[in-house]
Amino acid sequence: MVQNFSMNLPNGVRTPVYYYDTKLLDRTLGVLNDMSNYPGFKVHYAIKANANPLILKHILNSGLGVDAVSGGEIQAALNAGFSPDKIVFAGVGKRDDEIQLALVHGIECLNVESEAELDVIESIAASMGVKAPVALRVNPNIDAHTHSYITTGLAENKFGISVEMLEPIVYRCVASHHIDLRGLHFHIGSQITESDPFRMLCNVVNNLQDYYGNLGINFPIINVGGGLGVNYDNPDAEPIPDFRTYFSLFHKYMHLRPGQELHFELGRSIVAQCGTLVSRVLYVKKGLNKKFVIVDAGMTDLIRPALYQAHHEIRNMTSLSSEEETYDVVGPICESSDVFDRDVKLPITKRGDLLAFRTAGAYGEIMASRYNCRELPGSISD
Ligand code: LLP
Repeated sequence: MVQNFSMNLPNGVRTPVYYYDTKLLDRTLGVLNDMSNYPGFKVHYAIKANANPLILKHILNSGLGVDAVSGGEIQAALNAGFSPDKIVFAGVGKRDDEIQLALVHGIECLNVESEAELDVIESIAASMGVKAPVALRVNPNIDAHTHSYITTGLAENKFGISVEMLEPIVYRCVASHHIDLRGLHFHIGSQITESDPFRMLCNVVNNLQDYYGNLGINFPIINVGGGLGVNYDNPDAEPIPDFRTYFSLFHKYMHLRPGQELHFELGRSIVAQCGTLVSRVLYVKKGLNKKFVIVDAGMTDLIRPALYQAHHEIRNMTSLSSEEETYDVVGPICESSDVFDRDVKLPITKRGDLLAFRTAGAYGEIMASRYNCRELPGSISD
């Protein structure tokens, strides 16, 4: 294997540690901004992917808004300097105090997922004497062909309001003194690597817009959520996702009304490739039929392989060996699922070597836990 992956790690840095290549992040944001430069297109960063202040600073500077799914995420965005009128708030289970926080700060929009939630937002807005800006999240019943844990747009998922149940809720919003119906919101899943589901989404939206347009109801905003996938198998081949194809598809197939805004909530595609989890090899253990590389990072630091059977490319950053061996790379956690990958070919690996888990900038550090009373991983940037 060619050893062409390196980074400037300060001497003595404690592992496991997340390393962020902010130059790549800035390049990614530059391409994203160029490729989304169509009339009415606006991108909100799905902060759930990574809320590290090192990352947020760059995202703020690039001019994106934020898509938040909890009071904590709204607060993280505010602390990072995002303006409330660029923050949207989604999520199936918003607490009363989180709704209040959103309304007190005057955020851009609350994406509402059920009639029950609308009741609560309306009464809180009434008690505060304000009008709550909302978008109704519609479940378009589209199969995004992604892992079942991260598909969200199927009728059987807990997310959104089904198309069949939408109309009375739309009319309720229109009649309410404390609800300002700003738009319709959709999100069909994450790590979507085909164009078809997005094209199908455009069709669903176009049909809905025609239907409601005939009833005299227009929506200033259409929000199509996030979901654009990244290349986990070969990150070097595609360090920046294909934003051109993604945005041009929406430009081509989505029939926007004059002055209408099209919002996107991208997380993974913005930050995945700029992040690497760096871990030190503790032991190389011979089993009966296998060799295990036991590293100091575990599923507590990067849960994606254990939870979604996700593949992250692994590189040995320090071995000088030109010979390869096949290993299972595992963590120290007391769970059989604490395996990063099986039967991986690596240059001969020894105690003390540094391994890099690539494409870990999204849903990596933010999903870390303290299970086994471990410390959370640290982070550094170039
Ligand atoms: N908007 C909504 C309403 C969402 O639920 C999500 C992600 C996004 C936007 C951002 O999607 P993205 O552009 O990042 O695909 N932890 C999982 C991913 C969970 C995604 C949840 N929702 C993973 O590690 O693969």
